[in-house]
Amino acid sequence: MSIRTLDDLLAEGVSGRRVLVRADLNVPLDKQTGAITDDGRIRAVLPTLGALVEAGAKVVVCSHLGRPKGAPDPQFSLGPVAGRLGELLGAPVHFATDTVGDSARSTVAGLADGQVALLENLRFNAGETSKDAAERGAFADQLAAFGDAYVDDAFGAVHRKHASVFDVPARLPHVAGRLVLREVEVLSKLTGDPERPYVVVLGGSKVSDKLAVIEALLPTVDRLLIGGGMCFTFLKAQGLEVGTSLLEKDMVDTCRNLLERSGGKIMLPVDVVVADAFAPDAAHDTVRVDGIPSHRLGLDVGPETVAGFSAALSQAKTIFWNGPMGVFEMPAFAAGTRGIAEAITKADAFSVVGGGDSAAAVRALGLDESSFGHISTGGGASLEYLEGKTLPGIAALEN
Ligand code: 3PG
Ligand code: MG
Repeated sequence: MSIRTLDDLLAEGVSGRRVLVRADLNVPLDKQTGAITDDGRIRAVLPTLGALVEAGAKVVVCSHLGRPKGAPDPQFSLGPVAGRLGELLGAPVHFATDTVGDSARSTVAGLADGQVALLENLRFNAGETSKDAAERGAFADQLAAFGDAYVDDAFGAVHRKHASVFDVPARLPHVAGRLVLREVEVLSKLTGDPERPYVVVLGGSKVSDKLAVIEALLPTVDRLLIGGGMCFTFLKAQGLEVGTSLLEKDMVDTCRNLLERSGGKIMLPVDVVVADAFAPDAAHDTVRVDGIPSHRLGLDVGPETVAGFSAALSQAKTIFWNGPMGVFEMPAFAAGTRGIAEAITKADAFSVVGGGDSAAAVRALGLDESSFGHISTGGGASLEYLEGKTLPGIAALEN
């Protein structure tokens, strides 16, 4: 990989230089209180920020949060993240209340060596996500004016062709941060020559989101275990009735075709937990997949499925897991996700957890993060990497 790294930049010396760092501080927030519910993505960027602070750089951090529509929207402010980042760094973070306006300019100008600023949400500016290269470029010019060098440590966003990810590195000397390097190093083991058996577990709600990665993985994996909301479209494709479970009708034929071509590699649930409603206190039971009542919906995989999937995982030497097995946020429907996560930690395998949501699940369920080989901060990004797609953020660093 012909990418310059943070160490190369540090070797040049950054003391007194302004270093613009693109981070992915897109953390989940509590819908009621707005509090940060999982700070994993903030902690993941600390090695890079710490090294720059230590070296005396003026560190200007930028990130997106959520999907605001190109204009300021208080519910997506990075203000709370600035507070948490400061706590974790052990030094105050100077927060700019806009991204490239007066507040940002004076905040950056006021930084002393070794101090850190955080700009307000990049996506409060239409130029960040614009499909129009000129509009993105104009915004990238403004951002690039805040740095003498650029570090990309936003692995979770490298699959986005956005101004801060794709256009800014074309305007500044650019390097990959520690997190981006580690993520690429780990994921390249999976696309290279993984030790076998290589078992992949996919969950989450939509088949349509995972179709490309399933296509890409089928020839390479030894087993593909499918749970989560998307399993019901596969079960339907096998001719089963799925009640009022999540179903992508227009994907049923595609799923049938995948099953036919999978050479028996795809394993589906044999039992599921069905409920009267999508609610934490809904009445629920475990049933066989051929006995889902027409008025109930599946919200988790059942214990026999966990046992079968766990047996497959116990044989594995390499494991990739993306997507929860059920609605793990509700305790009644968390057993499937917990069971699979525990089976992964017990396997004598190199395991990678891909994805913002699966990583958050690991922490929300109180599992020991260190018992996994690697927990990726990128959901979409890690899937697109495994699909073999060119990632705009990585390509920009290579140039
Ligand atoms: C993520 O949460 O997957 C990343 O932060 C990217 O966010 P996005 O899907 O809104 O671009
Ligand atoms: Mg996402």
